[in-house]
This record gives sequence, C-alpha cells and structure tokens, in this order.
Amino acid sequence: ADPGVTAVAYPNIALIKYWGKRDEHQAIPWADSLSITLDVFPTTTTVCLDSAAEADRVTFGGTPARGAASRRVAAFLDLVRKHAGRSESAVVSTRNAGPTGAGLASSASGFAALARAAVAAYGLELDAADLSRLARRGSGSAARSIFGGFALWHAGEDDHSSYAERVDVEFDPAVVIALVDGAPKRISSRAAMRRTVETSPLYRSWIESSRADLAEMTEALARNDLAVVGEIAERNALGMHATMLAARPAVRYLTAPTLGVLDSVAVLRSENVPAYATMDAGPNVKVLCRPGDADQVALRMRETVPCCSTVIARRGPGVTLRIE
Ligand code: DP6
Repeated sequence: ADPGVTAVAYPNIALIKYWGKRDEHQAIPWADSLSITLDVFPTTTTVCLDSAAEADRVTFGGTPARGAASRRVAAFLDLVRKHAGRSESAVVSTRNAGPTGAGLASSASGFAALARAAVAAYGLELDAADLSRLARRGSGSAARSIFGGFALWHAGEDDHSSYAERVDVEFDPAVVIALVDGAPKRISSRAAMRRTVETSPLYRSWIESSRADLAEMTEALARNDLAVVGEIAERNALGMHATMLAARPAVRYLTAPTLGVLDSVAVLRSENVPAYATMDAGPNVKVLCRPGDADQVALRMRETVPCCSTVIARRGPGVTLRIE
C-alpha cells in the first residue's frame, strides 16, 4: 500500500492578532498579523492517496473524524485536488501533541501540516508563499505556521495578496504557556470572529490600532526589545478580547484563572521581571519573558493560580516533510 507522505508543523502564537475576515470564503483578514512559531505541541499528518475509495477518510489521534471537522478537511483536499488536476480520495491521519480546540492553535499546526503533506501527496510543487496561501484556506492562522521563528501575514485583498512570510529577526524570547483549562472551547474562533465583525461596535477601532501596533512592533523586534514587544503584544491581545466582549451577545474566552495569570504577570513586572501576556480563543495564557526567567515565571504561575500547569516554549521550526 501507499505509505503516504508525512509532514510536521508547530503552532504559532500571534503577537499582533488576526481576528476577523473581510472575505470568509477565501479567508482574507481585515488586518495583518504577526506571530512566533513555537517548538512544542507539533501536529504530525500523513496523507495517502486511495484511488479506489469514494470519499476521504480522516482520523484525529486514531479516532475517525465526523461532521464539520471531516468536511473541513475534505473541502481543503478539494482545493488541493483542483490545483493539481487530480481526483483521488485521500486517507488523512493526524496527531496533535497538545490539547485540541483550547486556543492553543491546533488548527494552525494542523492545516499547515495538512497543506504540506497533501501538496506532496498530490505531486504539486509550491513555494513557501503559495503553501502559505493554501494553508490560509484551511485556517487563517495556519498561513503563519509554514514558517519557523517570526512570520508576518499580509492581510492582502484577494487570494494572491494574502499570505505570510518569514520575518528575519534574532529575537528569541521564552514563551511560558500557562494551561488553566484543557477543555475544548464553547464557540469556535471562526464563529466568534464572525460575530465580532458583525456586531461589535469596537471592532473598527481595534483594527486601526492593530495596524499602528504592527508598525511599532516590527521596529521593537528588530532591536530585540522584549519590553516594547511584550507591551504591544499584551495590549493588542487585550484589545482583541475587548472587541469580543463588546459583541452581541458577548464572546468571552477569558475565565477567572486567566485573570489570575494576568495578575501574577503584573506582580512579576512590579518585581522587575519583564513578563507579558497574550491570550487567544481560549482561557490559556502565553507569557513572553527572557529565557533565563522562564523557570521562575512558570513556577510563579503554578504557585499563584490553582489548576495551572506550565510548558516552556521557544521559537520553533517551520513545516517540514518527514523523510521515511
Ligand atoms: C485568536 O485561524 O483559528 O488565534 O481562520 O476561522 O480558522 P479560522 O480562525 P483561526 O483564528 C485564530 C485566531 C487567534 C489569533 C491569531 O492566531 O492570530
């Protein structure tokens, strides 16, 4: 049987967030975003072609995928098949090393790995920008997980102009992931961002401030300025959550333990330990700090926030094909 093609990709954490699409079908966002790809919680995905099968078969961690999740993978494979001029069905097996659906960007690593493996399985040759464009159609944030280190996703205005690229900086902070809840989120980021764009009176001003944040962030990254990068990342994330809280009805991912972590981060700063928080579509927090402070930051989170466990990450690699 066809052994298939395997790809590995890592999640990324946005320091300037992507939240909201101007074109849902093509996944074109309203604003640029910027992220760091991590070296923890990879997704490993194998794609085998099966010309005898009538439909794609998808498993997540060995369990057959059903419903919306399997339709989303099949719709993505349809894009790849159309591009390649092929029609075979595929068998997709994917494994996440981290918790799924808890705002830890498993859709980013997932669609980056799927894009890379499917492109190879169907015999397409794409450069990194094209791979990023394709991954974007699976999940917006996946456009950035194609790249290791820092990546900038240009919002663009159509399929061609909306893609991510590497940002070549040496900045290499630690990212302490404070896990306060591993349960899947109650509302998908897709549905939540749609509601925010459609109903939040704060949305437009967040987009405007996000554009200004990005310009400042780019300069701070280039000069390795953790304090400025961290401050901007934290205010950008809080602003994103503010737009959600103002949506009708409100979208709230932040929970009491999330706020506990934010309090601890503020205390650390008052003790002159530079630490800055960012949160995605879930209650867990990622704390940016100096690598030499990471153990102390992680310990503080566990000591002060009940149920908190921690994982220390650094910058990680871009998507790769595994050579068997
Ligand atoms: C809060 O990429 O999961 O993590 O494009 O609808 O699949 P879809 O959304 P997704 O949204 C991620 C949003 C975020 C911020 C970010 O990663 O930039």
